[in-house]
Amino acid sequence: SCITGATNTHRVTERQPPRDHPARIAPMPPLAKGFFARISPSMALLKIARMGHPVLLGTAAPVARPDAPELRRLVADMRETLADAGGIGLAAPQVHQPIRLFLWRDGEAVRALFNPVIEPLGEDRALAWEGCLSIPGLRGLVERPARVRWSGLDEEGAPVAGEAEGIAARVLQHENDHLDGVFYLSRMPDLGRLGFTEELARAMESHA
Ligand code: NI
Repeated sequence: SCITGATNTHRVTERQPPRDHPARIAPMPPLAKGFFARISPSMALLKIARMGHPVLLGTAAPVARPDAPELRRLVADMRETLADAGGIGLAAPQVHQPIRLFLWRDGEAVRALFNPVIEPLGEDRALAWEGCLSIPGLRGLVERPARVRWSGLDEEGAPVAGEAEGIAARVLQHENDHLDGVFYLSRMPDLGRLGFTEELARAMESHA
């Protein structure tokens, strides 16, 4: 308060730190833009478990309180990790947390879903290429229900539900499978349609 107490000049002078005091050393130069963002604890990139790690094989546990501080932190870290990896979905077991939570890209938004329930809508099935951050470098042709109804809890612990089709339906099912230790490989009707992304891209180019 003596610093802001400009009405009491004498006291301010009296309280000046001595010459060798740390407060008299020249102020720090301005920090580079984004410095605090980079060191912020909410920006941590998490290590992604790869196929073969046992954390990817178990049945994940339901979450009682999605809005608990450590889970908010986890969701923030998973968002950063997903953005950094350039993926469209990420399940908690993939970042070594065996709980029923995944993130999925819904248009522009990346949503978190706790304790999800995914149910097929109708009989239509769709075949499309999938990849997985835990199986880097590979793609496989996977068959799944074309439309689903999804429900669960959001980051605030509020019940949420909706219907999805196309890529969103596929991501929801792929991520939900991770909570039960299932890889997309198990959903492939023909393992011959598994390949390295580079080779598949080359083959598609030559067929174009
Ligand atoms: Ni995956």
